[in-house]
Amino acid sequence: MNPSDVPTPAEQPISQPGLSVVLGGTGGIGSALVALLRAQGCAVLVLGRQTQPALDYSAEATVAACAQHVAQQLAHTGLPLARLLVATGFLHGTTASGQRTEPERSWQHLNADALAHSFAVNAIGPALVMKHFLPLLPRQGRCVAAFLSARVGSIGDNALGGWYGYRASKAALNQLVRTAAIELARRNREALCVALHPGTVDTGLSQPFAKTGLQVRPPAVAAGELLGVLDGLLPGSSGGFFDHHGLVVPW
Ligand SMILES: NC(=O)c1ccc[n+]([C@@H]2O[C@H](COP(=O)([O-])OP(=O)(O)OC[C@H]3O[C@@H](n4cnc5c(N)ncnc54)[C@H](OP(=O)(O)O)[C@@H]3O)[C@@H](O)[C@H]2O)c1
Repeated sequence: MNPSDVPTPAEQPISQPGLSVVLGGTGGIGSALVALLRAQGCAVLVLGRQTQPALDYSAEATVAACAQHVAQQLAHTGLPLARLLVATGFLHGTTASGQRTEPERSWQHLNADALAHSFAVNAIGPALVMKHFLPLLPRQGRCVAAFLSARVGSIGDNALGGWYGYRASKAALNQLVRTAAIELARRNREALCVALHPGTVDTGLSQPFAKTGLQVRPPAVAAGELLGVLDGLLPGSSGGFFDHHGLVVPW
């Protein structure tokens, strides 16, 4: 099936109403979320830099176009948007201007281009997702918007230092999630908007840093845990930051 194909309502199991949209659904954790949701019989729409339409945070127009595409699919199928899962993120690699970058071990390594790229992908892109996608959530009934963050974005939990750009951009994401959750509650009291820490997962993002001793899990295991956490979120938990066991992570 084409990644962006959505089954018609007739193909939907009655127990799984609604469309799930996975942004960054071509990444390590994102693609595992997509596979698991599909295995559970859910209608899933995948968007990423290689899909059609493409989602690339370096251009807000692509975020808007993807949201418009989702709106059309919702109208066409008559399904509500049940889950918006944002699995995008950046820790190391090539910035938009072509510079190779790694997490900073010291303030000596701070670099404006690398910091800007971390904020662009980890905070500003998801903020634009909030702007264009959160209005697509239904005005009534339970629905979830989940943004993959990272425990290292917790200020209270920062005992080791380092990784300035990743930590700070994930802390910014957490504040954006909390703020959007407050606004979302004014539209729909049952809607949930949360930040999730997936644990250490074996993907391209974590691979260079997976030290012995860290509990590195396969993406499929992480996807199962994360969907379990989302399904188990209690009313009133919107605006929270949870790990893959469903435990609250300090801000
Ligand atoms: N893996 C871990 O151990 C771990 C731990 C804590 C938190 N997390 C968080 O979990 C999330 C998923 O991580 P992952 O391990 O699955 O990483 P990954 O395999 O590297 O996936 C990252 C995703 O982000 C997308 N992306 C990167 N730059 C983008 C841009 N400019 N515009 C739009 N999309 C962009 C990638 O798109 P393409 O597919 O097109 O490359 C990919 O889908 C991230 O937020 C990460 O910070 C991961």
